Amino acid sequence: MSVVTLRVNGATYEVDIDESTPLLYVLRNDLGLQGPRFGCGLAQCGACTVIVDRVAMRSCVIPASQVRGEITTLEGLSNDGQLDPLQQAWIDEQVPQCGYCQNGQIMTAKALLDRNPNPSDAEIREGMEGALCRCMTYYRIQKAIKRVARGATAAAHGGDGDAESSAVSVTVAAIAGEATE
Ligand code: FES
Ligand code: FES
Repeated sequence: MSVVTLRVNGATYEVDIDESTPLLYVLRNDLGLQGPRFGCGLAQCGACTVIVDRVAMRSCVIPASQVRGEITTLEGLSNDGQLDPLQQAWIDEQVPQCGYCQNGQIMTAKALLDRNPNPSDAEIREGMEGALCRCMTYYRIQKAIKRVARGATAAAHGGDGDAESSAVSVTVAAIAGEATE
């Protein structure tokens, strides 16, 4: 066991853990952050994705003791209760079905948009590769990403983006990173 210091969502934590403990376990079990999910545990599905210094990473296979830099989880996207535009787009497009994969989808999309604010369809498919959804929500994921990209582009040109708003009938828990299990 050793004491490891982590920077997560703007706060500093010290945890006493085995050096091989995956970051995902520390986030969920020690810090109570339930946004990242356990899916495969093998870096194959993306459910556990977090962002480390703007790069999407699979937290199920990274030992927490080896992480350097600022970790952002789904909970860290919102600011004072204000959802990130990407989370809002997820609601507007009613993306989730069962919701289990959605942490990985949103965090992967966030990293994609941070490095490429206006991706093409091909760039979205490439950037989202490996974030698996057994409910096949891929089309709505692509629409949500494009909604954010359109908004950012319109804002850069003085517009107000896409003002269209859909009735919300899906739970926002999986989108905002609230604990559901
Ligand atoms: S749980 Fe980490 S990639 Fe599947
Ligand atoms: S919404 Fe069910 S696995 Fe993606």
